[in-house]
Amino acid sequence: MRYTINDIKEMKLKGQRISMLTAYDYPTSKLLDQAGIPIILVGDSLAQVVLGYESTVRVTMDEMLHHTRAVVRGTQHALIIGDMPFMSYQTDVSTAIRNAGRFLQEAGAQAVKLEGGERMADTVRNIVECGIPVMGHIGLTPQSVYQLGGYKVQGKTPKAAAQLLRDAVALQEAGAFSIVLEGVPTPLSRIITQKLAIPTIGIGAGVECDGQIQVLPDMVGMFTDFTPKHAKRYANLAEVYKEAAARFMQEVQERTFPTAKESFTMDESALAALAELAKSL
Ligand code: KIV
Repeated sequence: MRYTINDIKEMKLKGQRISMLTAYDYPTSKLLDQAGIPIILVGDSLAQVVLGYESTVRVTMDEMLHHTRAVVRGTQHALIIGDMPFMSYQTDVSTAIRNAGRFLQEAGAQAVKLEGGERMADTVRNIVECGIPVMGHIGLTPQSVYQLGGYKVQGKTPKAAAQLLRDAVALQEAGAFSIVLEGVPTPLSRIITQKLAIPTIGIGAGVECDGQIQVLPDMVGMFTDFTPKHAKRYANLAEVYKEAAARFMQEVQERTFPTAKESFTMDESALAALAELAKSL
């Protein structure tokens, strides 16, 4: 059985902290599922940390669906959220509904996430009315990076903070089951979290949120192009990979790999017959 959005909302009521991680492929999502992570986001961070694009703006619906399918196949228990990519929901409500539906129907996700507050509330309401659970995302919204002028903490002035509070309330009223707060000062996250009945999930938003999300390749040291301030490194997989590749290369050079253990033998009589044939050729 998978976690449902009701389980997630109940976790806030019970004061249980919510852990959420991103994943983009079958083997990784399987490990996270086995570790008991209740929510996996197939984030549009896929663009940078897996596909090597400059920003999330470049990733497409087809790419997102492809990776979401793999994550769904790798999991049995986690709630899988598909991240709606840039331009898949901003132009008009019917396009947004159709694309949200594709994550559930074509990829097997159980919910979608989209960026934006008050101005996206109507879109969220319409998607939810179609039976598609929506997670909101406010604060530093990477799809607007060119409008924001960089990856900057949001809500630092009284006016901007008040707008973020209004954004959060508008999303809750529109039916979002949870909201990601990204790049938000801790005191503001605390106020938003206390104000809302639905859980807040923070990234660079302090410890007062109901839960936390991290981008997995940042967290395990797999993506090394840059490390955001909000990322904590729990492992150094880049070094593990590089060391394994270097050892492999050395053993190939020295002919100490493969050994008999990784090789295959054949029947003695077949071998003798083959030797005879080789002589006659
Ligand atoms: O795409 C992503 O990984 C995200 C998280 C940073 C919340 O949106």
